[in-house]
Amino acid sequence: MNATSELHAALIPQDQVSTLVDPQAYADGRIFETYRWLRKHKPLGLAVAEGFDPFWVVTRAEDIRYISRHNDLFHSGDTQFSFMDRASDQRIREITGGSPHLVHSLVSMDPPEHMKYRVLTQGYFMPKSLRKLEAQIRDIACEFVEKMLSTGGECDFLTEVALNYPLRVIMSIFGVPIEDEAIMLKLTQELFGAQDPDVSGAADVLSAEAQAEYLARTVEGFHEYFRTLSDARRENPRDDLSSVIANAKVDGQPISEQAEMGYYITVATAGHDTTSTSTAIAMAQLARHPHEFQKVKSDPSLIPGLVDEAIRWATPIKSFMRSAAEDIDVSGQRLSKGDWIMLCYGSGNRDESVFDAPDSFRVDRSPNPYISFGHGPHICLGMHLAKLEMRILFEELLPRLKSVELNGHLKMIPSLFISGPKALPIRFALE
Ligand code: HEM
Repeated sequence: MNATSELHAALIPQDQVSTLVDPQAYADGRIFETYRWLRKHKPLGLAVAEGFDPFWVVTRAEDIRYISRHNDLFHSGDTQFSFMDRASDQRIREITGGSPHLVHSLVSMDPPEHMKYRVLTQGYFMPKSLRKLEAQIRDIACEFVEKMLSTGGECDFLTEVALNYPLRVIMSIFGVPIEDEAIMLKLTQELFGAQDPDVSGAADVLSAEAQAEYLARTVEGFHEYFRTLSDARRENPRDDLSSVIANAKVDGQPISEQAEMGYYITVATAGHDTTSTSTAIAMAQLARHPHEFQKVKSDPSLIPGLVDEAIRWATPIKSFMRSAAEDIDVSGQRLSKGDWIMLCYGSGNRDESVFDAPDSFRVDRSPNPYISFGHGPHICLGMHLAKLEMRILFEELLPRLKSVELNGHLKMIPSLFISGPKALPIRFALE
């Protein structure tokens, strides 16, 4: 086959492509049909969609791991690392003067720069260091559990607990006061919710250009907030993450303000929304599956299993993008230098060659090699923290609950990047 006919053979049919680029498909679950089809028929297919640059779609867990592991061959920084239409990409490049990234951060760095910056805080997020924070996190969890239980039997679990608990944890790790939570919550929701009129406050879905401008304003809001914090920590360092970032050096030199801001924004946003979503989905699944609820309730040693299964099920980050740094074969498919690649974590998490009954939610699933945190050198820096937060919350909550059920519709935020529930109405009975 010559190169043209090879590319033609790799093309994904338009009906499947339409689902891949439809934010609503990620909210209502239609995406899973498309993922299933792709894993079976075109595990490494080429999508051509109007308004987007062509992109390769990687749906098998093994291929996602291979590409993630080789960050010298597949770059995070040369193109957008989150899936984005061409007009937004162009607008961002206009705003930044050529860079595809509004924020210079770990997620968009490549070797050798990436590791130099990652090690600055990596130790802070390792299980051994996190043990020191366990009592502090448990106090926060208990506060939220009491708040929820005081509602008397009906609440929106998202607003009462899931949304603000991880935020409170990340704020306490940064060492900033509770009063600043509202601004941080607003900025995070704006960063990930530009496609949702409920978040942007617009009458309709914003145009690509308007979205890019909206994002740039949000990033500036983050900068204003963190600049003040960083200056304070340089003057008076404390035992918190902000002081680590504010005083960080690479190659013996203080890091640039841009890199510093990128660090704060990535940790603040990545550390919050994703964990909120996973916590909410854990509760939603327990409410939907009384049998699984009883299982984990009667055997608390299954709580880490509940946490893992909820993170697999939720897959809060739908995909990250890479680009090929050279011409390369992946699973027999030729990719060319510069090609844009979508790693579909939600598909890897339902890959039937890896998971037994992937469409069932099982708190005792073992092994559970889910890929929601990515894989390889960019694997989530906060994965141990996210799991710790969720474990502690359910350790405190489950002994108090006799039963839980959904009390209304679970509506999800439509987004191509990070999406979670908009609300999670539940009804519960106490022990
Ligand atoms: C990276 C998911 C929680 C901070 C990532 C990546 C994924 C991910 C998929 C990989 C990016 C890539 O390969 O390009 C999640 C999920 C979470 C979660 C599903 C919760 C359930 C957290 C928390 C924090 C955090 C709690 C911080 C407190 C980061 C950072 C990176 C990252 C800084 C960039 C790492 C790098 O590029 O080296 N996360 N994350 N995340 N995450 Fe998380």
